[in-house]
Amino acid sequence: MVSILGKKTLIFTGVFVVISAAYLLIPIISNSTDGDEISISDNSAIVSIELPDELSKVAQIGKLAFQSNCLACHGENAVGQKGVAPPLIHKIYEPSHHGDESFQRAVAVGVRAHHWKFGNMPAVEGLTRGDVKAIIAYVRELQEANGIF
Ligand code: HEC
Repeated sequence: MVSILGKKTLIFTGVFVVISAAYLLIPIISNSTDGDEISISDNSAIVSIELPDELSKVAQIGKLAFQSNCLACHGENAVGQKGVAPPLIHKIYEPSHHGDESFQRAVAVGVRAHHWKFGNMPAVEGLTRGDVKAIIAYVRELQEANGIF
C-alpha cells in the first residue's frame, strides 16, 4: 500500500522535475547556439520608440546606410541592443549634447567607451562624410519624433 503510493509520488515528482528543468534549460541552450551571427531578437532593444510618419529623402538614404553599417550594433531604428551598443534615440545624443560633428567623429575614428559599459566603438570604414550626413539626418528625424531635439 505505502510502497505503491510512494512509487507514484516518486514518478510524479520525477516527471515534474524533468519538465521544470527543460523549461529552465531550453532558453539557455537556444541562446548558446546562436553562433557568430549577430541576432536581433525583439527583446534586445534598449528603448522603445515612435517612428515618424515619413522620412525626408535624405533620411531615407541615411536609413539604408544605417542599416548596413550601424544596425548590427545600435539595433533597428537605433533603439540600442542589450549587451552590444547604446540607443542613439536617447536624450544623451540630442543635438546640443552630441552635435553632428560627434557623429562624424564616431564613424571616422571610433568612440572610446565613456557613457556606457558596452566597450569601445570601432571606426566604421567605407563611409564618406556625405553618407554619415544622411545617417545623421535619419537619426535626427527619429529623435525628433520622440521628443529629443
Ligand atoms: C561594433 C559596434 C558598433 C558599430 C558597428 C557602430 N557603433 Fe556606434 N557605438 C558603439 C558603442 C559600443 C558606443 C558607445 C560608446 C560609449 O560608451 O559612449 C557607440 C557610440 C556611438 C555614438 C556616440 C558618440 C559619442 O561621442 O559619444 C555615435 C554618434 C555612434 N555610435 C554612431 C554610430 C554610427 C552612425 C554607426 C554606423 C555608421 C555606428 N555608430 C556603428 C558601437 C558601435
